[in-house]
Amino acid sequence: MALLTLAAVAATCAVETETTLSPITAVGPTTTTASPSPAVAPKAAVTTTAPTTTATPQTPILDDRTEERMTMVDQQIVERGVEDALVIAAMREVPRHRFVPDQYAALAYGDHPLPIGYGQTISQPVIVALMSTALQLAPGDKVLEIGTGSGYQAAVLAAMGMEVYSVEIIPELAASAQTVLADLEYGVAVLTADGYHGWEEHAPYDGIVVTAAPDHVPQPLVEQLAPDAALVIPVGPIGAVQTLWRFTLDARGEVIGESLEQVAFVPLTRAGED
Ligand SMILES: C[S@@+](CC[C@H](N)C(=O)[O-])C[C@H]1O[C@@H](n2cnc3c(N)ncnc32)[C@H](O)[C@@H]1O
Repeated sequence: MALLTLAAVAATCAVETETTLSPITAVGPTTTTASPSPAVAPKAAVTTTAPTTTATPQTPILDDRTEERMTMVDQQIVERGVEDALVIAAMREVPRHRFVPDQYAALAYGDHPLPIGYGQTISQPVIVALMSTALQLAPGDKVLEIGTGSGYQAAVLAAMGMEVYSVEIIPELAASAQTVLADLEYGVAVLTADGYHGWEEHAPYDGIVVTAAPDHVPQPLVEQLAPDAALVIPVGPIGAVQTLWRFTLDARGEVIGESLEQVAFVPLTRAGED
């Protein structure tokens, strides 16, 4: 584990762009570009239901995949050292198979990411657990997710009792995630936009989680953090392994980064780019 200021993190990332590490497939392909930081306004916003919170995780949804889900949590989450009771309970509850395209539904509880269309992925279960844990949330906290994708990470946060806002740049994914989330009665607000800019209207957030990798830390996300909040984000060059960071603000308002893991996320794309 390393603690670094934001400037030092930027320097680390700059060095990493010179390396030739091969991408790993833990979370998804790393093929396209994330541009530096042009001032692109958010795309048209299509939203949604207001988020709702429940103080405690909901009653587990029992279905014909419940046993597989319990095994997934026991073997992939608990045995790997995740201890956060809220995260564990939520992942026992959320029917992951509902967030996976039909042709991959049989593989939904496997120890890997899966394609969800449009070149994107639903993250590996253990990555969802690690990121949810790293946010260090309490029920009722307001959380922003960048990269709704299938909606699974958002559902886990909602099942933890959080007020969840989620931003997705691909309209079709935002729409399908919204449908599944509403069907399962998870009150998540979904916005179709470039999440680089966060979702200012509802800021500040008690936690922000980014599930696609930029090559630098988006300043708007730092600015939308509440004083004791964490920003959990993979940062790194395109086509290489990234570092998963947990950023917080110290007493002087300086951003401090703690590196957590080496990961391989799909890139954070920007509005106007493919
Ligand atoms: C690894 S997938 C996310 C997985 C998702 N959290 C889930 O539980 O299924 C990354 C997602 O980030 C989205 N994304 C990439 N760049 C984005 C941006 N600038 N703003 C919002 N979403 C973005 C991708 O379209 C993709 O759906």
